[in-house]
Amino acid sequence: MATHVTAVINQKGGAGKTTLAMNLAAGLARRAETVVIDLDPQGSSRQWSSLGSAPFPATVKQIAGKWDARSLHQSFRAYRHLVLDCPPSIDSHASLQALRACDVALIPVLPSPIDLWASLRLPQEIEEARKTNKDLKAYLVLNQLEPKSALSAAMHEALAEFGVPVLSAAIRRRAAYRSAALEGVSVYQMGSRGAQAAAEIEAVINEVIPS
Ligand SMILES: Nc1ncnc2c1ncn2[C@@H]1O[C@H](COP(=O)(O)OP(=O)(O)O)[C@@H](O)[C@H]1O
Ligand SMILES: [Mg+2]
Repeated sequence: MATHVTAVINQKGGAGKTTLAMNLAAGLARRAETVVIDLDPQGSSRQWSSLGSAPFPATVKQIAGKWDARSLHQSFRAYRHLVLDCPPSIDSHASLQALRACDVALIPVLPSPIDLWASLRLPQEIEEARKTNKDLKAYLVLNQLEPKSALSAAMHEALAEFGVPVLSAAIRRRAAYRSAALEGVSVYQMGSRGAQAAAEIEAVINEVIPS
């Protein structure tokens, strides 16, 4: 079966790219062979996977040198799912190639208009990537939602202006996401402490990634 590529992308640091990429990959690894490609020079997903006492459920790799959609598919054809953890910059080779190589781009954003404005060039980059990657799907994923607090009118307006559809599955602010990173595991491996978070990640997978 063809490799399905999900890019987790946003030039804003701290938006939740690595958190979403790693937990998504752990969920996908329950279904089929999955690899995370750590495209951030800071190597956060590599570090995360090396922390735990048990092996992380998905393989985490880095790529050396220049690459493109074709070479990526060639190198990782043994895997069913590829998750790209992008660096916090849109001008980098890695981010541009990730948008050209992926089936789905997930853009985690904090629920504040100021955070969204910081990513304003992303819709243009997605349009640019669609010139060669015609079937590219892109979604915003609301991250760190506060329980019970509704999105502000300003946020609704900013989302509408952004022009990229918002996933109905959203991610709440939960201690489990922080603990998972510190413990080098995914929320799936945290038992009841991670159950609600794992259910959120499952909802994201079910909404956008074909089984
Ligand atoms: N839903 C969440 N709930 C609680 N903490 C979160 C959540 N998402 C991310 N974080 C925390 O926010 C910080 C930044 O997240 P990270 O995934 O590293 O962002 P990025 O990769 O975009 O820079 C990390 O400390 C992470 O543990
Ligand atoms: Mg990161």
